[in-house]
Amino acid sequence: MGKTIIVSNRLPVSLQHKNGKFEFKASAGGLATGLGSIYKEGENIWIGWPGNDVEAPEQKQEVTEKLMSLKMAPVFLTKEEVELYYEGFSNDTIWPAFHYFTQYINYEDTYWEAYHRVNRKFCDAILKKADLDDTIWIHDYQLLLLPMMLREKLPDATIAFFQHIPFPSYEIIRMLPWRRELLEGMVGSDLIGFHTYDDMRHFLSAVGRILGLSNESGFIQADNRLVNVDAFPMGIDYDKFAKAAVSKKTQNHVRKFKEMLGEQRLLLTIDRLDYSKGIPQRVKAFEELLEAHPEFHGKVSMIMIVVPSRAKVESYKQLKIEIDTLVGRINSKFSTLNWVPVHYFYRSFPFNELSAFYALSDIALVTPLRDGMNLVCKEFVASKTDKKGVLILSEMAGASKELVDAILVNPNNLEGVKNAIMEALTMDEEEQELRLSSMQQSLKKYDIFQWVKVFMDRLAHVKEKQKELISR
Ligand code: G6P
Repeated sequence: MGKTIIVSNRLPVSLQHKNGKFEFKASAGGLATGLGSIYKEGENIWIGWPGNDVEAPEQKQEVTEKLMSLKMAPVFLTKEEVELYYEGFSNDTIWPAFHYFTQYINYEDTYWEAYHRVNRKFCDAILKKADLDDTIWIHDYQLLLLPMMLREKLPDATIAFFQHIPFPSYEIIRMLPWRRELLEGMVGSDLIGFHTYDDMRHFLSAVGRILGLSNESGFIQADNRLVNVDAFPMGIDYDKFAKAAVSKKTQNHVRKFKEMLGEQRLLLTIDRLDYSKGIPQRVKAFEELLEAHPEFHGKVSMIMIVVPSRAKVESYKQLKIEIDTLVGRINSKFSTLNWVPVHYFYRSFPFNELSAFYALSDIALVTPLRDGMNLVCKEFVASKTDKKGVLILSEMAGASKELVDAILVNPNNLEGVKNAIMEALTMDEEEQELRLSSMQQSLKKYDIFQWVKVFMDRLAHVKEKQKELISR
């Protein structure tokens, strides 16, 4: 048994340059936590981009050494690569296409060439560390070509891929001039995972129609190799959120926030700034509610946390302007000297403050127009240890397939979202408890650690099955 190498575009740390020195802040993200149980063991390692400009050779040396002590290895990207591979092909071509925002897709050959080049760069970085019998688990849409690049060099390695964003219908995939190469890249894996059954189905259909490879119960026969494709809905570190909610640190923040906000019913929204999240639609629904129900003025507020993201990509810049304008419009229309309808924060918050927002809010409004999974809704549910609170969740989020006890809405139907907020504001405590308990039960059971285990067990099973076929 060889070692395990985790690969993702970003490493699970953020690099900060302070007083001429580099510092690393561990990511609090779910994936980082779940995979922590893997890459921190033995000889295992996580390979990825440290996410900041590191150019001078001595700086690269310093960062590499520090990362190695944390069981990580960096892939440094040049400014041009960040522009063309990360902001370009990953987030200006694949991201809009895979989230069904076809109007935002940029079809640039220079993007594609850089994407190919950087996937190759990742491949070379992995080959420096990998042995023939290693297991390599690659994550997400920035690295779709990597599985096949690795397969060509390490034919017997165990290679798995997980896609964290949606996989769109064949009708969208066929729009991309590079569709064949992208699919061939993914098929270099032994196991390919998606969050939902629908994503898996779309992928299998695209592989059938574009590559001409059929499947039998999720098994594709590609070049004498068996590739398994399935849905593995990702969970969260449930206990971490449940425990944090009642911790002293969080409760201190809750007290402080309550003092400042007074007796308000609170609607919480938390997202990265992204057009797939449906932020303007949600703010408009709240505006309509306030328009139609003056009795809520002074009594209900929205806490809207928008985390800066991909700020150099044009579609994201435009969205920022749109949100700023909308929030300005609502607040200027309805605010009084002692009440603001939308508390809008364009920044991220430390973990215990986030935990306090979850614990404090009456309603979470999670209404993406399209989302691979969405973990915010799961974190909200896990934080509601007193079983009081209501989740309003978009049908377009992968999580809606599991959290069927939320109030499910179509995020494009503003009237529907408005009514859902009304329903949530008037839901009796018994029903809140019933709905939350049932969601909590399943989230507790299928947490992030279980997700990692189920995926890894399946990978081992696929390898066994391949061996059986060869020995027959
Ligand atoms: C999504 C993607 C991740 C990505 C994250 C943050 O969750 O699935 O792959 O890392 O967004 O985006 P960023 O562009 O900052 O890495």
